[in-house]
Amino acid sequence: MNAPLTRSGRYAVPFARRGSVVGEADLAALTELVRSEGPLTSGVWRERFEERFRQWCGARHALTVTSGTVALELAIRLLDLAPGDEVIATPQTFQATVQPLLGHDVRVRFCDIDPDTLNIDTDVLASLVTDRTRAILLVHYGGSPADMDRVMAIARPRGITVVEDSAHALGALYRGRRPGALADIGCFSFHSTKNITTLGEGGMITLSRDEWAERVQRIRDNEVDGVYVPRAADADPPALLPWMKFAEGVYRHTAVGIRGAGTNATMSEAAAAVGLVQMDSLDRFVARRTWIAARLDEAVSAFAGVRLHRAAPDSRHAYHLYTFFLTGGRRIRERFVRALDRLGVEVQLRYFPLHLSPEWRLRGHVRGECPQAERVWFEEHMNLPCHPGLTDAQVEHMVTAVRQALREAYDELARVPA
Ligand SMILES: Cc1ncc(COP(=O)(O)O)c(C=O)c1O
Repeated sequence: MNAPLTRSGRYAVPFARRGSVVGEADLAALTELVRSEGPLTSGVWRERFEERFRQWCGARHALTVTSGTVALELAIRLLDLAPGDEVIATPQTFQATVQPLLGHDVRVRFCDIDPDTLNIDTDVLASLVTDRTRAILLVHYGGSPADMDRVMAIARPRGITVVEDSAHALGALYRGRRPGALADIGCFSFHSTKNITTLGEGGMITLSRDEWAERVQRIRDNEVDGVYVPRAADADPPALLPWMKFAEGVYRHTAVGIRGAGTNATMSEAAAAVGLVQMDSLDRFVARRTWIAARLDEAVSAFAGVRLHRAAPDSRHAYHLYTFFLTGGRRIRERFVRALDRLGVEVQLRYFPLHLSPEWRLRGHVRGECPQAERVWFEEHMNLPCHPGLTDAQVEHMVTAVRQALREAYDELARVPA
């Protein structure tokens, strides 16, 4: 027998799916692309994927990029932040949501979370807004939509831009609408663990303003993020070939108005082809995730002291992550995790409160800043495998293991006085 390639290889129930191409339709699209002799970049597959996604999401613009991280970097670039500006951000998210802010001389105010949804607490949000607040960066944690009506009621009258990190929310619904079109800018990830994937890596940025879309299209294609003005007919250098953009006398960029360099964030045609095909399977994937989550909810809710993670009543959870909360103290949780590990179920906890990670501590953030985020993380937070790559047998194995591990954990509570 071959040795497992990764630590996860030893688990009967791995935390996340490995691999990207999930069906014959993905393979057929790739075969069609390769046989067509069409371009492998910036071609018709990308256009079709973007248009399909745009319509599906209900956004004004949808542009592919190479990852969710790049989508967030571009989103923050579009904010044109200036020294002294303030940005409010959730601490309960993957580091990519706020990391680009490290490159800006701005004050980041981490907003505490609601301990049931793990989304930003809108009462705390309202208390953090000042007349210097320029943007709010939030996540729909695990696929459970944030309370966007309340967020927008706070942001809109003050002209604050709201960025939805929708990396977990593919397939979620908020009052009948899709995350990514509920605010100003939406950022999606198609990493291989996400609800759909584009050959392992990929992302999409949705935008509510034409000017932003025009900037992103230029930046992602290696043009500077600058102000373009019509070029005088006699400008230097002279036209060399009539179809050359700068030479044909249409554009030049002014020395003032350059906001930053361009980059190459172009999604390949192969990735876009797989993304387009996977859109057909998104509802099926989310339905499978929802079914697994229901089985787990049923198993864990038999134990008093366990709290469930839910979407608001008028929202649909996309179950990118399955989350629940173990009350009773750290010892219970440790015992639960050790038992699950022994029983072959892989646990990964997502996410360490960002304001306490070294890069944000260096900027002065401290323990006590977001008490709910800290309490839930250090005492209660639990994630279990939940993805369509799991077979029925793996789900049954996990449900049995979770019951067993909870029995062991709570038996410990009964025996050891607090
Ligand atoms: C909430 C959140 N935002 C952003 C990202 C970054 O996406 P990507 O891995 O595509 O760069 C992730 C990825 O895991 C994520 O979970």
